[in-house]
Amino acid sequence: MATVGDYLIERGVFDAVGAIEAAALGGGVSNVVLAARQRGRRVVVKQALERLRVADEWLANPERVITEGDALRLAERLVPGSVPEVLDLDPDAFVLTIAQAPAGWATWKDRLLAGNADPAVAARLGELLATWHTQTFEDREVRRMFGGVGTFEELRVEPYYRTVARRRPDLSAAVEAYVERMQATRLCLVHGDYSPKNVLLGSGLWVIDFEVAHYGDPAFDLAFMLNHLLLKRLHVPDASVQLGLCTEAFWSAYEGQSTQLVPSITYVLGHVGCLMVARVDGKSPAEYLTTAEREAARDIGSRLLFDPPRSIAAAIALTHPDRVKPPGMTRSRAAPTIAELRAREVLDSRGRPTVEVDLELSDASVGRASVPSGASTGSHEAHELRDGETTRFGGFGVRRAVAKVVETIAPAVIGRDPFDQAGLDATLVDLDGTSDRSRLGANAMLAVSVAAARAGAVSRGVPLWRHLLGGRTPLLPLPMVNIVSGGLHALGSLSFQDFLIVPIGAATFSEALETVYAVRECTRELLTDRGLSDLKADEGGFGPPLDYPEAALELLEAAIVRAGRKLGEDVALALDVAATHFFDGRLYRLSSEPAPLTPHEFRERLERLVDAYPIVSIEDGLAEDDWEGWAALTRRLGARIQLVGDDLFTTNLRRLERGITAGVANAVLVKMNQIGTLTETIEVIECARTAGYATVVSARSGETEDSFLADLAVATCAGQIKIGSLAQSERLSKYNQLLRIEEALGPGARFAGAGALSRDHRVPKD
Ligand code: PGA
Ligand code: ZN
Repeated sequence: MATVGDYLIERGVFDAVGAIEAAALGGGVSNVVLAARQRGRRVVVKQALERLRVADEWLANPERVITEGDALRLAERLVPGSVPEVLDLDPDAFVLTIAQAPAGWATWKDRLLAGNADPAVAARLGELLATWHTQTFEDREVRRMFGGVGTFEELRVEPYYRTVARRRPDLSAAVEAYVERMQATRLCLVHGDYSPKNVLLGSGLWVIDFEVAHYGDPAFDLAFMLNHLLLKRLHVPDASVQLGLCTEAFWSAYEGQSTQLVPSITYVLGHVGCLMVARVDGKSPAEYLTTAEREAARDIGSRLLFDPPRSIAAAIALTHPDRVKPPGMTRSRAAPTIAELRAREVLDSRGRPTVEVDLELSDASVGRASVPSGASTGSHEAHELRDGETTRFGGFGVRRAVAKVVETIAPAVIGRDPFDQAGLDATLVDLDGTSDRSRLGANAMLAVSVAAARAGAVSRGVPLWRHLLGGRTPLLPLPMVNIVSGGLHALGSLSFQDFLIVPIGAATFSEALETVYAVRECTRELLTDRGLSDLKADEGGFGPPLDYPEAALELLEAAIVRAGRKLGEDVALALDVAATHFFDGRLYRLSSEPAPLTPHEFRERLERLVDAYPIVSIEDGLAEDDWEGWAALTRRLGARIQLVGDDLFTTNLRRLERGITAGVANAVLVKMNQIGTLTETIEVIECARTAGYATVVSARSGETEDSFLADLAVATCAGQIKIGSLAQSERLSKYNQLLRIEEALGPGARFAGAGALSRDHRVPKD
């Protein structure tokens, strides 16, 4: 096109005055692409080729530039600024002229290959794709414009899928099945070439190359990008962790943005398998892969194709760069297995012994976990194995539990797949064989279960919360924070166990902590002003000598006001009554009341508190086995406030299911050591969510520096967390980890906020 200048003048893109410079750009296999410039104006001119420049014979209809121009205009309309501006579309010559990216912009592919993989870019691309998909979902007009799938067939289905099906008879039936389902799925505008090569980055982000755009299956775009990211993860070991994060971030952002359209993860990963093999054995092999990487991609691709994992995390684990064998090696390095368990007695925040386990994998990854311990325990909790030898640690020693880990559990789990958490936990449960975990001890079991999850994250090179995420979008929890303690956690005379604040006005997790700090400091000042002790109780809350619950609630109200926060708007109140511990089987014996209260009287007492104070949540308002009283309490208060079952449910699926059936409570406290394994804990969270119950991930009054709960709360989207006061390192280790996760998630981090609190709208008020 020697006359590109004349052509652009004729098309009205450039004017007749002023020099025009033109140069050929590396245009890929399917187009002639030129850059042209007149004064400051820079454009790209693209003419479609009929015969593509690849080794294989491969034809395509040049009308695709017209489709591309239309698609660019549509994409721009849906998300302004997301694509280059279309300056001219010439249907007779099959030429498209678009704005050129400013000098200094680079393709995302170049950045990735240079090891510069930013998850924020991946998240942006996930969101963008979700917007295009959802905005064109079941849109008749878009379907009419982009209904032609010929180009997609020619440029994607034939060279990628069908060629693999022909060249790899072992895969062909599986590949054909994916093609068939994809061809039957016509849901939205599909870009068709959504890959790092087609993302331009600079002061903004543009997506280019819409020539394969069509009305089709959104899974294709997802799989196409995921495949590119996963292959790059194999190819750039130095950036493999970041590329894993990019992969997660892309999927999570898409999933978070698009509600009705997200295809099943296994279907998408099956496509990734087809495409991965196609990048090796198809018509357009990835030029940058080494022989060893190609071999790994073949293996991983067929594994994805035949047995797609159920989570993006598992797919990322499959593309660990360790899968690439050094040249000359004939066997691939085996997937890691559990190789060794070490256990010891360490001390918790009360100075009492507890179990710590180091679990090591065959690839040398180590996961460490230590377990907490309660003081106001429910009688239905799993058994905590202690030595009972009063000459050592007053009987609190855990040498027997340590021995169970090393002697009984280790032989049963060594050699197991650390990524199969459910299988591992089922083994622990079977090995114990009791209903209350009294043979192995829930402390021994939980330490192993959690250490395995940690080791898995280390092996994959991803943060723990990402490892636990499954297909969910991470959610930072609303904290419920202990300010004043009573009951079994403090020496004072308050019968109720926790008086907490909930920073319901905060917009982010870190802002929530600032609010809590301000109120806690004002509480301390008020106590000092009144000559009351500000000594701390087990969970770092103050344990002042107050007699009545009202006195503690009024103190908190005064502190909130003193901190300049609006009562019930910025900050609300919550109680953990822990009523089991002052119920004698018949009557509630509060130290503040002259006479014990009947269950009915006590319930009315709680109702009066809810009337008088901005209380949004009450935990264990009644005793652990008073199912009828609980049902009545839920009928009376369940539509107004959150009612949390702790000693009531003890993180036990059967007790929770009973409660759901009986209309008891509307939220569940989640404490891993009440049940003994991670898998059962997550099952309880999922059951609660399905039933519309809120979930509050909770620490115990005796804790260690282990911050697992923070990652667990984010990864399970629990919505709320209760880990004690803003004091003492065993509490702060969790708060601080949440701050780190908030930072890692960046400005797009989701924070649960006040919406996480349960109010049971299904329960009519009496
Ligand atoms: P615990 O207290 O750990 O002593 O059981 C915490 C709670 O009751 O929520
Ligand atoms: Zn409790």
